[in-house]
Amino acid sequence: MSKHILLIISGSIAAVKSLELIRLLKNKHYNVTCVLTKSGEQFVTPMALAALSGNKVYSDLFSLNDETEMGHIALSRAADLIVVAPASANIMAKMVAGIADDLATTLLLATNKPVVIAPAMNVKMWEHPATKRNVAQLKKDGIMIVEPAVGTLACGEEGQGRLAELNHILAIIEKEAAPYQPLKKLKALVTSGPTHEALDPVRYLTNRSSGKQGHAVAAALAHLGADVLLISGPTSEPDPIGVTVKKVLSAEDMLKTVMNALPVDVAVCAAAVSDWRADHIEPKKIKKEKSVLDMTFTFMQNPDILENVSKSERRPSLVIGFAAETENLTENARDKRKRKGCDWVVANLVAGGAVFGETENQVTLITEQGEETWPKLTKTQVAEKLVEKIVITLKAGGLTA
Ligand code: CTP
Repeated sequence: MSKHILLIISGSIAAVKSLELIRLLKNKHYNVTCVLTKSGEQFVTPMALAALSGNKVYSDLFSLNDETEMGHIALSRAADLIVVAPASANIMAKMVAGIADDLATTLLLATNKPVVIAPAMNVKMWEHPATKRNVAQLKKDGIMIVEPAVGTLACGEEGQGRLAELNHILAIIEKEAAPYQPLKKLKALVTSGPTHEALDPVRYLTNRSSGKQGHAVAAALAHLGADVLLISGPTSEPDPIGVTVKKVLSAEDMLKTVMNALPVDVAVCAAAVSDWRADHIEPKKIKKEKSVLDMTFTFMQNPDILENVSKSERRPSLVIGFAAETENLTENARDKRKRKGCDWVVANLVAGGAVFGETENQVTLITEQGEETWPKLTKTQVAEKLVEKIVITLKAGGLTA
């Protein structure tokens, strides 16, 4: 069955190129329905788009006919993929803000389908801090951005801003419309963030983990089709798209939730679980009565979640842990891998508070076969590289197609 593309054309001189894009898509047997914004209409006519796509062209949010024939929700659901080409600075800003003041922006807000945008604008608009912020946010929101090309722009200026080559846009559309999902049908569990171990009703023991790395692993697994459960301690990271999130507080809560989630095919324990919990929780807030607090807490060791998962009867095929070390990175991590019974350890140096809350990470992957040190990468790239390895390993074990 041919895939259905909803092509939104916004106001930019590059809108004229959408006619050729439709032709290329039709050659590849896509069913294309066009949505034209008011400013897009200044550059191409609905008639031309209808003639090339062979489908009705939509532009008006409040057309009674369209709402009875096909409302905006149905229109966005009928598509396999939404493409905005060209995407003006204006429509990008509206997408970031969640503004829905015309048919195109309403569709973009209502959709549950992947969205690809190909921006085209003047170089100064592209380089403006506002546009940069918007591009970064759209990427975070899971929007695929086909960056504009560098060259002479319609206004005569030189720089980045030209609509990307149509064949390049087409290649990305083809990839997104039939996404590479080697982990489809597989279940994954990821732990992330710190834990909170209560001392009294308002105080707790915790650590500096931000949850960035664990959340990025969950997002990368979901992106390749896995059914992902993310069990996270308190973090300010947003829930990754397409991932089921369970929030927990203490190590004991996390252990219970993790063990209840088994069996899964792969488990990645990236949480910085507090090693200790207080032997008791003061029932009332400890008051600041004296200048010296002469109260004693004894700290008990928390259960090791990674070890429990690795040694469980319902052990996942692949169990991966992390190791935060301040010294002797590889020796300690190698020892941790053996002691806890997991397959791989992703080790990083955290001396001097490095890594926590940062966007970059430099890790060494320790497996039974040996170890490899990766260059400094963003945490998203570390997650993607790790998930690539997961795919290869599960494939070798016959778990994925
Ligand atoms: N881990 C866990 N449960 C714990 C402690 C750690 O699941 N109670 C997991 C972490 O999620 C990580 C790995 O074990 O995948 C290693 O965590 P790390 O803090 O580096 O090691 P610890 O076992 O706490 O050992 P140490 O603090 O002595 O280095």
